[in-house]
Amino acid sequence: MPRLEVANKVWGALQNEMKVLVIGGGGREHALVWALKKSSSVTEIVAAPGNGGIASLARCLPVDVNNVHAMVNLVAIEQPDLTVVGPEVPLALGLVDELESRKFRVFGPRKAAAQLESSKAFAKEFMQRHGIPTAEHALCRSLDQVRESLLAFSLPVVVKASGLAAGKGVVICDTRLEAESAAAQMFSGVLLGTAETEVVVEEFLTGEEVSFFALCDGKRAIQIAAAQDHKRVGEGDTGPNTGGMGAYSTDGLLTPAMQHWIIQNVAQKVVGGMASEGTPFKGILFIGLMMSPRGPMVLEFNTRWGDPETEAIMLRLETDILDLFNASIDGTADALVIRLKPGASATVIAASGGYPGKYVSGVPITGLDRDGEDGVIVFHAGTTTKDGQMVTAGGRVLAVTAESADLRDALHKIYERLKTISFDGMQYRRDIGHRALRS
Ligand code: AMP
Ligand code: GLY
Repeated sequence: MPRLEVANKVWGALQNEMKVLVIGGGGREHALVWALKKSSSVTEIVAAPGNGGIASLARCLPVDVNNVHAMVNLVAIEQPDLTVVGPEVPLALGLVDELESRKFRVFGPRKAAAQLESSKAFAKEFMQRHGIPTAEHALCRSLDQVRESLLAFSLPVVVKASGLAAGKGVVICDTRLEAESAAAQMFSGVLLGTAETEVVVEEFLTGEEVSFFALCDGKRAIQIAAAQDHKRVGEGDTGPNTGGMGAYSTDGLLTPAMQHWIIQNVAQKVVGGMASEGTPFKGILFIGLMMSPRGPMVLEFNTRWGDPETEAIMLRLETDILDLFNASIDGTADALVIRLKPGASATVIAASGGYPGKYVSGVPITGLDRDGEDGVIVFHAGTTTKDGQMVTAGGRVLAVTAESADLRDALHKIYERLKTISFDGMQYRRDIGHRALRS
């Protein structure tokens, strides 16, 4: 028997007894572990570092997701059949490349492909090269270039740090002086802690924002779902930006025609363009879109599942999530049909008091013992156990999630459940889904 056939046979046998390692420890990873747990082929799940909630579904092992060496060592010790990389930092650091070179099976894009998220400069120039609709921009490498470029833009104008910035790298400026000062703070490192070498000045767009998720296998992109995030901390979309305070996903968010348009004119162009440049894209392509009066425009790409969109989407996903991972890795997305439960799902984040500014951790959480009773799933975003008690361990603490035939009903279940959960300083938005409910 040729070697490849033997390998395929062994792989086939293994598929019914799979050990999966999930890298990350937020609400997104809890939702991915929850979905993996439902897969009939998965017999063991390890999460690194995981969190207090994930620990009820998987063995959690500490690891620093900023340290590629430590993650590679962990995979070498654990020998999983599949590693799933959740967060953007390990992708940008090249964890997938390192694992692939050691013959480990891994889901996610390589470092060169992850640049679509890790470098806004790369993403903007890539979109320009491949005719993907996005806001007009100027790429600047000095403050002088920023000053000069600003003259070509009307106000307000958007200034973006090129590198990963955990949601803090975008400043919308009402005056040119403000824009200059934002750029100066990015170049000096005052804004983000590390000095940026590239800053993008961008046209300000108006419209509704949509997150669109596609599964990519290096050649093809297929649709998973659309969702809407709520980035501002305050109700009515006020206050500072956060990692996301809630999200929902409904059938009606985008028309079938619009979904098709986005696949053809954005997702498929990305996959085709990346392949033609020798850096094929495999994994999740998260397209942040502004539905502007000039048509859909790409605000940003992420090269991973969104958080908290994933929490909402996982409750609707009927297809075995392992089939998604395998299709992406094996280049067989064209044969995959992704089924979602019809209707809607939503997730509401319970955050620490003070978030996204300063907050305290280690605060005891009560009311977490009712999981499943009402069809509401409480994913943990930032928790840990201390002396047998679940305590807060981050800005975003819980992602309270439900699905239903109707968005209003899903949200009702979530808000009822939230009344029974508490921790000192807990804050959440009471208007998640407000745009969909209004229309
Ligand atoms: P980004 O990280 O590029 O998605 O930007 C974060 C947020 O800033 C987006 O979700 C938008 O709300 C806002 N934003 C980014 N770019 C623009 C733009 N060109 N026009 C208007 N708002 C923007
Ligand atoms: N929900 C936005 C993000 O994951 O970046």
